[in-house]
Amino acid sequence: MKNRFSRIGFILAAAGSAVGLGNIWKFPYVTGEYGGGAFVIVYLLAIAFIGLTVFLGEALIGQNSQANVSTSFIETSKSKNEKWKFAGFMIATALLILSFYSVVLGWILSYVFTSFTALPTDPKIAGDAFNTLITKDLSTQLLYHTLIAGTVIFIVLKGVKEGIEKINLILMPMLGLILGGLLLYAISLDSFSQAVSFMFAADWSKVNSDALLAALGQAFFTLSLGVGTILTYSASLPKEVNFVKSSVMVAIVDTTIALVAGLIIFSFLFEAGAPSAAGPGLVFISLPVVFSGWGILGQVIAISFFIALIFAGITSAVSMIEPSLMFFIERYKMTRKKATILCGSIFYLLGIVALLSMSASFGESLTFFGKNAFDWMDFTTSSVMMPSAAIVICIFLGYYVDKDMLQERFTKHTPLFVFKIWYFLIRYLVPVAISILFLHKLGLI
Ligand code: PHE
Repeated sequence: MKNRFSRIGFILAAAGSAVGLGNIWKFPYVTGEYGGGAFVIVYLLAIAFIGLTVFLGEALIGQNSQANVSTSFIETSKSKNEKWKFAGFMIATALLILSFYSVVLGWILSYVFTSFTALPTDPKIAGDAFNTLITKDLSTQLLYHTLIAGTVIFIVLKGVKEGIEKINLILMPMLGLILGGLLLYAISLDSFSQAVSFMFAADWSKVNSDALLAALGQAFFTLSLGVGTILTYSASLPKEVNFVKSSVMVAIVDTTIALVAGLIIFSFLFEAGAPSAAGPGLVFISLPVVFSGWGILGQVIAISFFIALIFAGITSAVSMIEPSLMFFIERYKMTRKKATILCGSIFYLLGIVALLSMSASFGESLTFFGKNAFDWMDFTTSSVMMPSAAIVICIFLGYYVDKDMLQERFTKHTPLFVFKIWYFLIRYLVPVAISILFLHKLGLI
């Protein structure tokens, strides 16, 4: 019997994949940088019309063929043409993201432990501590990266049902509880209303083409799209489950958590009079200072907050390795153990390259054309490989798959007009929108 998700297991696992550092770390700082409300509106539109469309596409391909990324493209195509196996490049994207994602999770793990001892009391000390960690403290980074990588490997070795489904069944409700508690505390603060108006009152002056790109990139990243993750998880979803409803639920959970994380973080920052546009250092530099001002309560909040980030991140990390595992197991007939050792070593070693590339001692030799290896991994995955994959998915479904089959899969669960809207979006609107933004980002138009 194949290792399958239950319906709720799938929703939790896909939501576990979607909800990650993208929601709790990246969404708030990007929103802060683009001035709040108007950016949030653009982001919500990107999720609803572009992200969800591609999500449904990946879910359909996976559930329909019940196979790894390469095989499922071949089998879903009208011509069953072997050339579609090239779509399997997505699994490399996921593994590459995992390499540096594990390093960042390592930093967060080290913050869980620092929160137990002493939090920095002013932004200068906090900034120096963070910089020392990433540029000088190689052994600490290596230790935590190893712990995270080991945890991910340990979970996936146990398989889809016993490993992935189970861990999500435990961690996702716990994440919900911690975030719920932090939200209640945020609501009790005077600054909560300020956070609400920052996040929902639109100031369109800051929405330029960069903001549109950031919103689109964030929508893809946060929904785990274009890397074969949703496709691979859906391949373990029994065929009779309503994939449309499940996908919509995942998008709703993911968006709600991003908004809640934003409200929590901005309430905390405004309460302490800290700036909202602190960039990537927001949770590593600004927040610890805010927490340190609140004494012992601040320490408890800091610990809970960083643990929540770890839970969210681990469930995402696990979902990044699964596409390659399924690929090697099915196409190269490897055992799960062998595939895990192979893919685990790849991302673990690349992660070490990423962390060394930021260090004072090795940084220079791991910097190419003005970007270090860590930034290259981030840039090529989110700015090149994910959007390219999204375009491939749209063109594939819109032009190379039998329309009747697609319609049948949708109408099994939803009224015909849902299919019609989706089909229009996937054939025209989404690929055109992504292409324009993509070429613009690469400076080609
Ligand atoms: N969605 C995850 C997040 O928001 C990141 C992710 C990307 C997970 C790609 C799986 C695949 O952090």
